[in-house]
Amino acid sequence: MLRVGIIGVGTVGTSVVNILKDNAAVISARAGVDIVVKSGVVKNLNKDRGLDIKLTDNVDDVLNDSEIDIVVELMGGVEEAFEVVKRALKSGKAVVTANKALLAYHRYELQEIAKDIAFEYEASVAGGIPIINALRDGLSANHIESIMGILNGTCNYMMTKMTNDGVAYDVVLKEAQELGYAEADPTFDVGGYDAAHKLLILASIAYGIDAKPEDILIEGIQNISQDDISFAKEFGYVIKLLGIAKKDKNEVELRVHACLIKKEKMIAKIDGVMNGISVVGDKVGETLYYGAGAGGDATASAVVANIIDIARSGKSKPMLGFDRPMEAGLVLKPIQNIESKYYLRINVSDKIGVLAKITKIFEDNSISIEAILQRQSSKDSANLLISTHMAVERDIQALISSLEKLEFVNSKPVMIRIV
Ligand code: NDP
Ligand code: HSE
Repeated sequence: MLRVGIIGVGTVGTSVVNILKDNAAVISARAGVDIVVKSGVVKNLNKDRGLDIKLTDNVDDVLNDSEIDIVVELMGGVEEAFEVVKRALKSGKAVVTANKALLAYHRYELQEIAKDIAFEYEASVAGGIPIINALRDGLSANHIESIMGILNGTCNYMMTKMTNDGVAYDVVLKEAQELGYAEADPTFDVGGYDAAHKLLILASIAYGIDAKPEDILIEGIQNISQDDISFAKEFGYVIKLLGIAKKDKNEVELRVHACLIKKEKMIAKIDGVMNGISVVGDKVGETLYYGAGAGGDATASAVVANIIDIARSGKSKPMLGFDRPMEAGLVLKPIQNIESKYYLRINVSDKIGVLAKITKIFEDNSISIEAILQRQSSKDSANLLISTHMAVERDIQALISSLEKLEFVNSKPVMIRIV
């Protein structure tokens, strides 16, 4: 018998307990052993969770229990979770976590600490999609050329509802929270940080890059309006929050931001809470992964798969998939050097000569305009909706700061990159 202690019995933890019970026969057949939850740790012991496991509010009850073989960390957060996981590993217990924020900051230290104690984290990226397995094992013969994906279920759910049903941002965010998709602090979702945490994990496996969230370009969906959505519709695009990792010679660019994507593209058709990831390897070509990116059961499916895997082998693979330097000389591309096409929404006073002055500033910043559209936004103001040819991030940022200083530009221009 293998005994599990779960630290954090909320949305995902509750589903882990239920799956281990509902699917016990198939799970023990696959694991070769019975798996039981010995105890779970929560903050609030008074909450009714409808579970028949022993609950405590003291992590020591799990960490100091010599009968517990695997600690499943599902409490979230960074530093407190780091301490818990370190203690578990140091006492020789295997660890399974779904905590991408923890891994975004401490994955390399955890790899060092874990050594050959099993440490698994499949649920940390893209919920139920086995993307860590695919990248770390299935594609391990390849140099990874790019990874591009919808990595946050909450944002994809929100953008889908805002686009297809015109639902207001705040209403749809509340829905995503009620459905158990959002992080405890939903700013992590809508601000792009959660997707960035996941991208950093994938980039470590693919390239061995040791970057922190602060080192990469992260933007969310908070500034996207119905104006942008209708521009997108008019020009055959949809707007999605994407995580992008791309190798270019000895540089890797890592970025998370909203993107305008041509509506015919496969990734543009991934709607609702679903995640979708394209990984291109130099030998295998493009591979695609699709599935539920958030929610209790989908995420717990990946957590339980890791528990089964540990039961089978008891050993860890190298946690990040390599244990000697990989891809020597690869460095992170500076944000300012990233190249893209861009869309800008500029709210201006509707006066003679304004358009000419705006286009002159594009020229001054070496940015070539591809398409332009004007939409009245009030009696005396208008939105200029402009798309560009390929440009460099540095020039676009300079353009935006020149534009926002103009007295006839009413607010900071909104920019969305075009993929
Ligand atoms: P919840 O907020 O639903 O659950 C967190 C659980 O941890 C709760 O049971 C809470 O107790 C407990 N907890 C929090 N802090 C402490 C503490 N200091 N001591 C003891 N218990 C504590 O979160 P989720 O289940 O949604 O997420 C858990 C982890 O899984 C997070 O890292 C999240 O990022 C990750 N994840 C979540 C996904 C999802 O779709 N929800 C998908 C993929 C990953 P109490 O219930 O008493 O408040
Ligand atoms: N809040 C995350 C999301 C949970 O919406 O994608 C899954 O990691």
